[in-house]
Amino acid sequence: MKITITGTPGTGKTTVAKILAERLSLPLYNLTGLIKEKNLYLGYDNKRDAFIVNTEKLKNFFENKKNFIAEGLIAHYIPSDVTVILRARPEVIISRLKERNYPPEKLKENAESERIAFCATEVFQNPPSPVIIHIDTTSRTPEEVANVIMEGISAGGLIEDVDWLEG
Ligand SMILES: Nc1ncnc2c1ncn2[C@@H]1O[C@H](COP(=O)(O)OP(=O)(O)OP(=O)(O)O)[C@@H](O)[C@H]1O
Ligand SMILES: [Mg+2]
Repeated sequence: MKITITGTPGTGKTTVAKILAERLSLPLYNLTGLIKEKNLYLGYDNKRDAFIVNTEKLKNFFENKKNFIAEGLIAHYIPSDVTVILRARPEVIISRLKERNYPPEKLKENAESERIAFCATEVFQNPPSPVIIHIDTTSRTPEEVANVIMEGISAGGLIEDVDWLEG
């Protein structure tokens, strides 16, 4: 099975992906590391302090792989069987990321991306797989999130209503 996990930084992609990879015995790819390691980038964005991904190279890397979990901000660019979108209340994103000593602008930028549902909108506008799982992690432990994802896979999809613009 091919599973991708996307979402704003701080939604818990890496944490949950590790739990799932173990439970399902699937090889796990962290895209930030992979892109760097395998040169799957076009260049480096100094302003954003991040690699600019080469999406063609990224897709090619996974093309012949039948079983994997790929997690990262742009995981939904990879065709898969299941796409998981993790969400979390913007204030919770900030508190989860505080430990990382990110500059305040970066914290704000991530909270804002989450508020406007940046990743989720990309997925819903152009679904990269037949099964979409969209869940709110705000009041769930990583284990609980993993359980909900497993339920979603069994059910052939699970879409929770999440709207941070409603206040
Ligand atoms: N469901 C959760 N409840 C509480 N804390 C969580 C939850 N999931 C993750 N965390 C914590 O939030 C922080 C960010 O989690 P994680 O690194 O998994 O996010 P991420 O989505 O992979 O972020 P990035 O895109 O920057 O890699 C970590 O300190 C993690 O322990
Ligand atoms: Mg991560």
